[in-house]
Amino acid sequence: MVKTLIVYESRQGYTHKCAKEIESLLDGSVVLVKAKDANKEALEQYDLIIIGSAVYAGGIPSSIKRFSKRNMQKLLQRPFSFIHVWYGH
Ligand SMILES: Cc1cc2nc3c(=O)[nH]c(=O)nc-3n(C[C@H](O)[C@H](O)[C@H](O)COP(=O)(O)O)c2cc1C
Repeated sequence: MVKTLIVYESRQGYTHKCAKEIESLLDGSVVLVKAKDANKEALEQYDLIIIGSAVYAGGIPSSIKRFSKRNMQKLLQRPFSFIHVWYGH
């Protein structure tokens, strides 16, 4: 069974809505976690990691940057996808 982790940050709810939609489309087990809580997750157990973030003031939130930098090697060792939400949603 494929295990997917979706890590996201959402201030107004649109990215969370996208994450929930993706969750509903995926087979296997899917865990949704806010970026600020994602460091508690053992990434090794996931086959696929999806990161979802919006753009705020021309950049991505620090929680997403921190998670991505801290886990760069693990992210590069498995399929991962970055979902970007911005004006126009
Ligand atoms: C304070 C603020 C700043 C934003 N800055 C940008 C921006 O620089 N570029 C952009 O394309 N969208 C910008 N947006 C739009 C958001 O990226 C967009 O509304 C997104 O869907 C919000 O996602 P969320 O609901 O998950 O927080 C901004 C929104 C807010 C509230």
